[in-house]
Amino acid sequence: MAVVVLDFGSQYTRLIARRLRELRAYSVILPGDAPWAEIERQNPEAIVLSGGPSSVFDPGALRPDPAVLTGRVPVLGICYGMQYLAHFFGGVVEKRGRAEYGKAVLTRYQGPLFKGIGGEVQVWMSHADAVVRTPPGWQVVAETEENPVAAIQDEAGRFFGVQFHPEVSHTPKGMEILENFLDHAGVRRDWTPARMLDAAIEEVRARVGRERVLLAASGGVDSSTLALLLAKAGVDHLAVFVDHGLLRLGEREEVERALLPLGVNLQVVDASDRFLKALKGVADPEEKRRVIGHTFIEVFQEVAREEGPFKFLAQGTLYPDVIESAGGFGAAKIKSHHNVGGLPEELGFELLEPFRFLFKDEVRELALALGLPDTIRMRHPFPGPGLAIRVLGPVDREKLEILRRADDVFVNLLKEHGLYPQVWQALAVLLPVRSVGVAGDERRYGYTLALRAVTSVDGMTADWARLPYDFLDEVARTIPRRVPEIGRVVYDLTSKPPGTIEWE
Ligand code: XMP
Repeated sequence: MAVVVLDFGSQYTRLIARRLRELRAYSVILPGDAPWAEIERQNPEAIVLSGGPSSVFDPGALRPDPAVLTGRVPVLGICYGMQYLAHFFGGVVEKRGRAEYGKAVLTRYQGPLFKGIGGEVQVWMSHADAVVRTPPGWQVVAETEENPVAAIQDEAGRFFGVQFHPEVSHTPKGMEILENFLDHAGVRRDWTPARMLDAAIEEVRARVGRERVLLAASGGVDSSTLALLLAKAGVDHLAVFVDHGLLRLGEREEVERALLPLGVNLQVVDASDRFLKALKGVADPEEKRRVIGHTFIEVFQEVAREEGPFKFLAQGTLYPDVIESAGGFGAAKIKSHHNVGGLPEELGFELLEPFRFLFKDEVRELALALGLPDTIRMRHPFPGPGLAIRVLGPVDREKLEILRRADDVFVNLLKEHGLYPQVWQALAVLLPVRSVGVAGDERRYGYTLALRAVTSVDGMTADWARLPYDFLDEVARTIPRRVPEIGRVVYDLTSKPPGTIEWE
């Protein structure tokens, strides 16, 4: 049993499916013109027609199989989907001179889709065509000032259409509207993380069979969850964790503790000497990234050769990493360079990306179902080049060690005070600036450490975190005591933009 989402090319199709999952309804996306036989195989309880770039007047526009429109399964058409319904059943759709785009408010709404909803209903419009006359027997169930036909339904209550996008966050009551549709259609709501996990395991098993899978474990949530998934699926895998010597204190041990007991075949490669040698004297941030990326590929390639052959390379790519369109909903904008770029082509693997349709919070749910400890499941993002881009200027072992200890004090105090989950990312930066201070009767000439903590939704923009003064005071006193090489502690008040989160 599933809600089948027919995809007519909207940038929001995956988001519709995700919203349905949030409402605990199992959903499957099929091409807009999928034949009925294929749809029927999913035992559809309801069908959603997505939006799309086409107009019902385009000769080449994707059209649903007419069997979708017999009424045996309730249908919700969104945007193009609604226009198609109106057109198909004999209403009138007109081309608008200009697209209606952006926020609008429903001036009137009624019927099953809006059941239990009260007050102002703000909706997100994004379309060029409009329904100007409903099909015979249908009625208008919502309107906006600009658009007298913002939602429609047929007489029997089997077909619904909305001109706006209930799936985006700019339609704050959109989830209630979608939920009303599911309730009205009698859709079962038993899709849980445990079932999502079963489906992911099934997919991995079916794809991998008896072949071997290689994985680069980074210690982050996505690759750790993926490693656990491979172990749970019982496929032949090797998770390689490259210790580049640029990790935080205890990070490697933390990853081992999280993954080994749960059956992950983990190999830790200590390549810190090699990375530090390659980084010697490198001061330019982009050059640091290039050297680290290059060395990483070399090391990884060597392991792949020694331990191979592997048919698949598993990557924890998430849906927001996949979509290229920069416009659209929040998470769509996360940068792609964060994943290990270039690896697949160079090594000639087949890619296995079981999370490619999931969002971060869904992976966290999977992680919970798989037993990943919270230390990793809920942790802040950490850049691939690690502490190398937080030691400003050339990197060496001594400076890394100083930063590692100071960073650990900061992060642990955040955790102790319950502040860690409230900030999106917190970090310390070792500046190449020394300043004068006193310790006891002695003059000191110590390093300057910058603390940075930001709040953010997706890392694309960020605001400096308003951490309590008393807390900052405690951190500033504790760090020079525990890490005497540091003589001065400053807090970074720069938001993004104009600053980036990292200093390099
Ligand atoms: P910026 O500094 O661009 O960072 O505001 C935004 C987010 O991306 C992370 N970041 C990186 N992650 N490789 C990574 O894997 C990188 O080269 C890199 N640079 C920045 C940063 O930690 C923040 O979460």
